[in-house]
Amino acid sequence: MVGKTDASTVTVSPQLVEWQLDQLGRIGSQPDGGLVRFLYDAAWSEAMGLVEKWMRHAGLQTRRDAVGNVFGRLPGTTQADRTILTGSHIDTVRSGGRYDGALGIVGGINALAALRQLTEHPRRSLEVVAICEEEGSRVAGSLLGSRGMLGLADTAEMSALTDTDGVSVAEMMSEIGLDPAQVAGTGRRDVDHFVELHVEQGPVLDTSGVDIGIVTGIAGMRHRLLTVSGRPDHAGAAPMDSRRDAMRAAAMMTVAIDDIVRRVGAPAVGTVGQMRAWPGAVNVVAERVTFSLDLRHPSDAVRLRLLDEIDARCRNLAAEHGLSLEIADRWEEQAADMDTDLQRLLAETADRSGFSWSSLASGAAHDSQLWARHVPTSMIFVPSVDGRSHCPVEYTQLNDCVRGANLLARALYRLAY
Ligand code: GLV
Ligand code: MN
Ligand code: MN
Repeated sequence: MVGKTDASTVTVSPQLVEWQLDQLGRIGSQPDGGLVRFLYDAAWSEAMGLVEKWMRHAGLQTRRDAVGNVFGRLPGTTQADRTILTGSHIDTVRSGGRYDGALGIVGGINALAALRQLTEHPRRSLEVVAICEEEGSRVAGSLLGSRGMLGLADTAEMSALTDTDGVSVAEMMSEIGLDPAQVAGTGRRDVDHFVELHVEQGPVLDTSGVDIGIVTGIAGMRHRLLTVSGRPDHAGAAPMDSRRDAMRAAAMMTVAIDDIVRRVGAPAVGTVGQMRAWPGAVNVVAERVTFSLDLRHPSDAVRLRLLDEIDARCRNLAAEHGLSLEIADRWEEQAADMDTDLQRLLAETADRSGFSWSSLASGAAHDSQLWARHVPTSMIFVPSVDGRSHCPVEYTQLNDCVRGANLLARALYRLAY
């Protein structure tokens, strides 16, 4: 048992962390080793059921909210109506890894399980949440779980948002027993802090050999869909200089975007990760091509300037080829700063625990990005081997996962007890 003066020895079970990450990492596993766990699909339901069971086994009070977030609660004593919230998302990208999101849930459950073993009880309530959706993999423009918790989602939006098969979020919800009419009422006002444990997903900690990253801020992001339209023609008979080839223009735009972002330099990043052609035949010049743009920068002003430059360049390329271009916004997250007091608390807690740490900015988007606009928020990063993420080889060593969960538990102790 641990007394109030010795919080730096609160320790999670490495065996449970390892076992739970392994079990969760099997749900939605694909032949290529990657995970597909999309909002409200069968793998999602199985994973949510499992983490709810683990929360109950940890002695936490469980519940689900209207968008399907799953919570495990360790009630407070004197300020039970105020909550310190931790957790991360259960969904994955297409062919994603086993740690993105999962570590924040498993780490949170085990941190609360370790704290529950203390003779003391928290003043403020502690909760871990498995967030229903963050990645935007099934529906565009996302962070649905956090938006639900923050009262920023509504029923009309549930009917309007659809996946690529045209199934609305409202229909998906009804299919698994959630009521879209309840979504607007799921917002909560009792959360004092949000603290998220996550893998870094980049190379900084792994390269420098530092144990822990304390996140200073998260880059802003814009997702767009660009559609280039030209004319279909015979791939054998139409002379090259007669063509209005949407594929050629889309390829030139992709390279132009890459050039513009490289010229601005790090930390600007721009990605064309998706492209579809119509009619999509080997022997037909493409009439229409749609492609995605994901553009990020820690300065929203720089990001918006870059977007303008990209727009102008792509419009020029379309005009030069006699093609039309449509640009549609799909998702925007502004850059966010993490709370400085919480960063200091994490740094002190890491020092007391003997963990090396450094401050770093996140290029990846997170639920914390949205939480930070509403409550003091912080993030703990642990190293990603070779900086790889959003792919099947994503890996974080067990001792790093455990160290992150221990730091989380000790920081939660300082906030809630
Ligand atoms: C989510 O992980 C993102 O950064 O796109
Ligand atoms: Mn991700
Ligand atoms: Mn994530």
